[in-house]
Amino acid sequence: MTKKTPDTLRSARWFAPDDLRSFGHRSRMMQLGYAEEDFRDKPIIGILNTWSELNTCHGHFPERVQDVKRGVLAAGGFPVEMPALSVDESFTKPTSMLYRNMLAMETEEMIRSHPLDGVVLMGGCDKTTPGLVMGAITAGVPMIFLPAGPMLRGHYKGRTLGSGSDGWKYWDERRAGNVTDEEWLGIQGGIARSVGTCMTMGTASTMTAIADAMGLTLPGASSIPAADSSHKRMGSGCGRRIVEMVWEDMTPATVITEAAVRNAAIVAMATGCSTNAVVHLIAMARRAGIDLTLDDLDELGRVTPLCANVRPAGKDYLMEDFYYAGGLLALMKQIEERLDTTVTGVTGKPLSEALATAEVYNDDVIRPLSNPVYHQGSLALLRGNLCPDGAVIKPAACDPKFHVHEGPALVFGSYPEMKAAIDDEDLDVTPDTVLVLRNAGPKGGPGMPEWGMLPIPKALIKQGYRDMLRISDARMSGTSYGACVLHVAPEGYIGGPLALLKTGDIVRMDLPNRSLDMLVDEDELARRRAAWTQPKPRFERGWGYMYSQHVTQADTGCDFDYLERGFGKAAGEPDI
Ligand code: FES
Ligand code: MG
Repeated sequence: MTKKTPDTLRSARWFAPDDLRSFGHRSRMMQLGYAEEDFRDKPIIGILNTWSELNTCHGHFPERVQDVKRGVLAAGGFPVEMPALSVDESFTKPTSMLYRNMLAMETEEMIRSHPLDGVVLMGGCDKTTPGLVMGAITAGVPMIFLPAGPMLRGHYKGRTLGSGSDGWKYWDERRAGNVTDEEWLGIQGGIARSVGTCMTMGTASTMTAIADAMGLTLPGASSIPAADSSHKRMGSGCGRRIVEMVWEDMTPATVITEAAVRNAAIVAMATGCSTNAVVHLIAMARRAGIDLTLDDLDELGRVTPLCANVRPAGKDYLMEDFYYAGGLLALMKQIEERLDTTVTGVTGKPLSEALATAEVYNDDVIRPLSNPVYHQGSLALLRGNLCPDGAVIKPAACDPKFHVHEGPALVFGSYPEMKAAIDDEDLDVTPDTVLVLRNAGPKGGPGMPEWGMLPIPKALIKQGYRDMLRISDARMSGTSYGACVLHVAPEGYIGGPLALLKTGDIVRMDLPNRSLDMLVDEDELARRRAAWTQPKPRFERGWGYMYSQHVTQADTGCDFDYLERGFGKAAGEPDI
């Protein structure tokens, strides 16, 4: 199905004309050591590599990029590696989310400004997946996503350790005095023991599963562990396929259809997905011109059972087990009746074809619809006078006794304020108290740091409590758990209702009815609203300043207003 010819390749605008500019471009390729026949009339494939020495999850990318190049060359393309912002999850403070849109902008601009006919996007660590995909959707050249793959299971003294989740769990035990220094060091060394992304169903695994289910990867690629040699073969496969995609002119617009987005959302629900997925999925869909809303996701959440028994929403297993059980294709096979299997994805072949040969090797890990881990999906949307534009919670990850809960609020205006108070053993809290953090949203954080799993106050930890109702306009890590209401919109910093809540006010959550309210009467709220003043901004210059000016609220995906589809005239191709 060839649609492009050498002279209609995008890169031909740079290399083909007999003019001075093109002479310059060709001579610079020769400066790199290439003969004309190496690159002329061939698809130029940009390999956008989000590697850095501080991105521990992408430690294999310097090697993997060679596999991709091998595939590109074998298929008759010309590969060029281009470094892109690494946005690592572990070290980037205050939050990697502050830089997702920077990566999205960089991706879009890097593609647009260079002679690229197609791109391989190498990402996986949390924000790199949506960042790369959002930018590439807008840039519009054919693209394929290469997921970094999960790391191997963690181990310590015969126990399996899961990224993030077991860190939180054993930290609470340590605060309660139950973990020795030696054990703590052992856990530290055992919890992350190979390259690859977090191996729980955290944000990384959720987002790569979403990219896979949306048809942006080779089918099932997202589940392959980073350290497995089939990951290398998947890498060269991406290189081969992208060259064909260029000739077929298979742009993101032809891949990311409404049905593909819906499949991705259903799969996300069935995996026990990270709450972060909501924000990213909405942002990605909107870039593709598909108006996916929180209500759509809530609706899918209500009817899609959680089938992947992978922590933290599942009980027992990790991503390595998920792969051995058949991986994402096996999961999609279990829920096949819920999916549109006519979608084609980057392969150009219907999903039904990939699912025809998929098998489930362990149906305790990848459950059938008739025996799910949890009868509903991973996420629920709340609304009420505390969150008129929505808030999200992960019902399966919280203690059921909080599903309907009423209690007095204990409100913190900032993360440092909360941190300074939470270990005070005289803090005035009971197990019914509702912990609240505000000014931690998209503009207020800025970037919605992952502060939403507020620590249980030390006074209660010592009494054996491990969960409480917590509410914030922040996010939480995909590996977190507990009764945490997140992404409250509109956020406190811009005067959303959270800004009006006071310590001692009664808050009521009714999860079955999807409501979250403060029981404060409207007159009193009006008085508080009139007296409210906006807190000082965290950044008064630079990226943080610009971010706060332009980021949208959580319910619409936290993209920048001026990057969204439909803002102004499309940038179009560069003048050469
Ligand atoms: Fe990279 Fe978790 S830190 S995926
Ligand atoms: Mg994370």
